Parts: sequence; C-alpha cells; structure tokens
Amino acid sequence: MKGVILAGGLGTRLYPLTRVTNKHLLPVHDRPMIYYPLQALVNVGITDITLVTGGNNAGDFLRLLGSGKEFGLKHINYTYQDGEGGIADALRLAEYFADSQKVCVVLGDNIIENNFVAACQEFSKQARGAHILLKEVSDPERFGVPVFEGAKILRIEEKPQRPKSRYAVTGIYMYDATVFERIRQLKPSGRGELEITELNNMYLEEGTLTYSFLEGWWTDSGTFDSLRRATNLVVETGANKMPSKGQANG
Ligand code: G1P
Repeated sequence: MKGVILAGGLGTRLYPLTRVTNKHLLPVHDRPMIYYPLQALVNVGITDITLVTGGNNAGDFLRLLGSGKEFGLKHINYTYQDGEGGIADALRLAEYFADSQKVCVVLGDNIIENNFVAACQEFSKQARGAHILLKEVSDPERFGVPVFEGAKILRIEEKPQRPKSRYAVTGIYMYDATVFERIRQLKPSGRGELEITELNNMYLEEGTLTYSFLEGWWTDSGTFDSLRRATNLVVETGANKMPSKGQANG
C-alpha cells in the first residue's frame, strides 16, 4: 500500500500564523507538524509516500524533508496542488503516483499517540472498498461523524450541528484503486470543496466501507485549541509510539 499525506489548504483557522507559511510547517512541540503524519505512515511500514501541498510554501517542504532520509526513507514524492479544492481534490492529484495500488491517506494535521498497524494489515486483506478509523471525542461537531444503527454505519455527516454519535472520523483513510474514479463523480459541497466525507459515503452506500477504532489519543491540530492540545499531548505522552513486540495497536 502506498501513502499519501495531504498538506495543502490555506489554514485560515490559524491566521495570522499561516499568513506567511503553511500550517503543516508550524511547530507541534519540538517538530514541525508534518513530521507526525509522515512518521505515522512509516510506523505502519509504508515507505512509498507522496506529499500533496500547494501555495507559496511548497518548496519549504522539500527543504525540510528532502529525500526523507531522517525517516529512513530512500525518497519522498511531492505533488503540487493548484488552488484550494478540498481534501478529496488534493487526493485526486495522487492518482498517477498510486498507479492502481491501494492508498493510505493521512491528513497532514492529524497526530496520533500510537499507530494503526492492525487496521492496515486488515485492509491489506480486504479485496475492495475503503477503511476508516474512528475515535471517540468530546466535540464531534467539528468532524465527520458516523451515524450508527447498532454496529453498522448508516452514513457519515460532515460537521453536523447535532452529532448523532460521539465519534469522529479521523483523518486516516484507506482506499482501493477505485477511489480516483469516485472522486471524479463528486460535486463541490456548500463550502465549495470536494468532501472526503462524501467519498466515504459512496463506499458506504456500496457496502464496502469498513471501520475500526483507533487506540490511544488522536487529535487534529488545525485550530488554536487543537494545536495547543496536540502540543500538550505530545509533551505529556509522546506521539507515534510503536507497539511492543508481538502486539499491534489498531
Ligand atoms: C476534515 C474532514 C473531517 C474529518 C477531519 C479529521 O475536517 O472534513 O471529516 O473528521 O478532517 O481531522 P477539516 O480538517 O476540514 O475540518
């Protein structure tokens, strides 16, 4: 499975911090934000990775990460996104890189305590479809939220005013090679973006979306509150911990 890190966007929720730089280059404790999702992919054994970014600071990612040697990689691919078309639009650009293989997509502002080795291994065995990772949160209205009927997800609602569960769809997604064909069918949402939630709902309607629960803490870091939370969690407990021998955390 190949890895895609989405690190575009204007980061307007962090103005003025993001007026002259990209959100994913901002510090989370002792490392730039982008280090965490990159390490998260490497920790599950994914080494063929592309980073999608755009704007005026794209070159800074190359200067910062270079070949990826610091992460034990031989090289990193970079893809440039013109404009701001949303998460699914950014993913669309990774089609050539994916080359008909499955992809694991991580949003560049998502930080996790542990890793998702188990989910990754399960999805490798899944013949087709997609897999999402859920986490119970205190503020689901900020995220994609699954609506459950028993253990079955009926649909996912994006930033609902009245969330129907306490779970967030985290920014870690696994897709089969049909994902790019599906993105072509998406229409821009009310906020003018191709929504990743609609993409996941397509798989859901087809009955090929599976899910699991992420262990350990998870946070985004794209707002002042969540950036502070991310920094505190990293300082207090550390991020991207590897499983102890013989044990994998989903
Ligand atoms: C995005 C997705 C949302 C998901 C979240 C995870 O939200 O749209 O469904 O739960 O990432 O971080 P955004 O970062 O655009 O607020």
